[in-house]
Amino acid sequence: MASTHGAKVLVASNRGPVSYEVREDGSLNARRGGGGLVSGLSAIGPEAGAVWVCAALSDADRTAAHRFEGGRRLPPEDTGGQRVRMLDIDAEVFSDAYNGIANSVLWFVHHMLYQTPLEPVFDAEFRRQWASYEAYNRAFAQALAEEAAEGATVLVQDYHLTLVPGMLRDFRSDVRIGHFSHTPWAPADYFRLLPDDIAEQVLRGMLGADRLGFLTRRWADAFAECCDALVGGLGGTRIGVHGLGADAEFLRERSQRADVKERMVALREEIGAAPDGSARRTIVRVDRTELSKNIVRGLLAYRRLLEDRPEWRERVVHLAFAYPSRQDLAVYREYTAEVQRLAQEINEQYGTPGWRPVLLHVKDDFARSLAAYRIADVALVNPIRDGMNLVAKEVPVVSDSGCALVLSREAGAYAELGDDAVTVNPYDVVGTARALHEALSMPGAERLERTKRLAAAATALPPTQWFLDQLNELSA
Ligand code: F6P
Repeated sequence: MASTHGAKVLVASNRGPVSYEVREDGSLNARRGGGGLVSGLSAIGPEAGAVWVCAALSDADRTAAHRFEGGRRLPPEDTGGQRVRMLDIDAEVFSDAYNGIANSVLWFVHHMLYQTPLEPVFDAEFRRQWASYEAYNRAFAQALAEEAAEGATVLVQDYHLTLVPGMLRDFRSDVRIGHFSHTPWAPADYFRLLPDDIAEQVLRGMLGADRLGFLTRRWADAFAECCDALVGGLGGTRIGVHGLGADAEFLRERSQRADVKERMVALREEIGAAPDGSARRTIVRVDRTELSKNIVRGLLAYRRLLEDRPEWRERVVHLAFAYPSRQDLAVYREYTAEVQRLAQEINEQYGTPGWRPVLLHVKDDFARSLAAYRIADVALVNPIRDGMNLVAKEVPVVSDSGCALVLSREAGAYAELGDDAVTVNPYDVVGTARALHEALSMPGAERLERTKRLAAAATALPPTQWFLDQLNELSA
């Protein structure tokens, strides 16, 4: 099936580098995404002739996927010069695969989010959705098989596409296949919550790759442990660890722009000053409103801090940025409502006419996040489990005068940043309140020194190098 005009390098991911929205006049507006993959892929340059295969995620995306070049490539001016093939997958199949299997099953397994004894239940509905997940993976594998030149290198991303390596291998034995997991990997005992045949299918699908990448050694070891327990080991598949770092160059330039400075002024005004006129301390968190990010326990810990340490009342503000995510799922909508309810409760309980203890913002605004990173005294990153967590890596790079990092030991970033962070067990609300106090009380000079070391560790593997390392390893 090799295409004579095929690409030598291909990337496949559910969410692509561009998304569309319909303007009022009916025309389509393209929004380009950022992130490690986008900057990584741009590093190999147009001469590599790379193609990115992704899914249409909305009706506007589906319209775009159809409008251009017979439903194949999108116009390069919309995609930042990338050659993008957006797959128009049947809306119901897509929803079963993305909302049903990827985000409600595989995400829950790897982040250990199930609340037994009520969950999980793998019933007939699950089996029906699994068939959609297979169809969705097959659509990707077919598109990749069509787009790849002889001997091409294909980098498949994440838990949405675990079956693609095996399927693509069946279509095209000549291509080199890598798969990278951006999530944690569940320990074998937890992974085995999945029905045996499904668990095996996931592992065998991934083992169709020549090489598998993970963000930390811990997740790589957990995967190997699952393979030992269920499919007799890794076979010939190699495993590598690539700890994606923050993009220092981009962040430093972007955070000095005028829109960020404007938002710093606005935030400072919102934060206000303590009754004695001194500047208030700021604890910042920036997350998708995501169950694994543990925003509710973060708020409970902040409330505990105000309760146990009254000296902080009026003198600290918690900037909590919780941006909408996966709102098609009821459990995410309920979680969002709980975050809002709790923030309001804390403000009603402790607030005074001149002090709002929690400033909760739910509208996604990257410039405002950068503004908060610059002015924060403390960053709270307390996920239950997280593949890496880039916020923990971005804050020290951008911080103006040093920011103490309160970091969950369950974040992948902990392996690189743990030495200079204040460590928390994400379930321990009292312990997290204590950690917030310790971070707020850290002397300025120590905070600055630690921030410098954190920034160096956080930027050790820039996105372009992260991507190139994987390409090189695959060709080795
Ligand atoms: O690996 C997790 C991931 O896919 C990330 O790449 C991304 O940050 C996040 O989940 C976003 O998820 P979604 O595409 O469902 O919004």
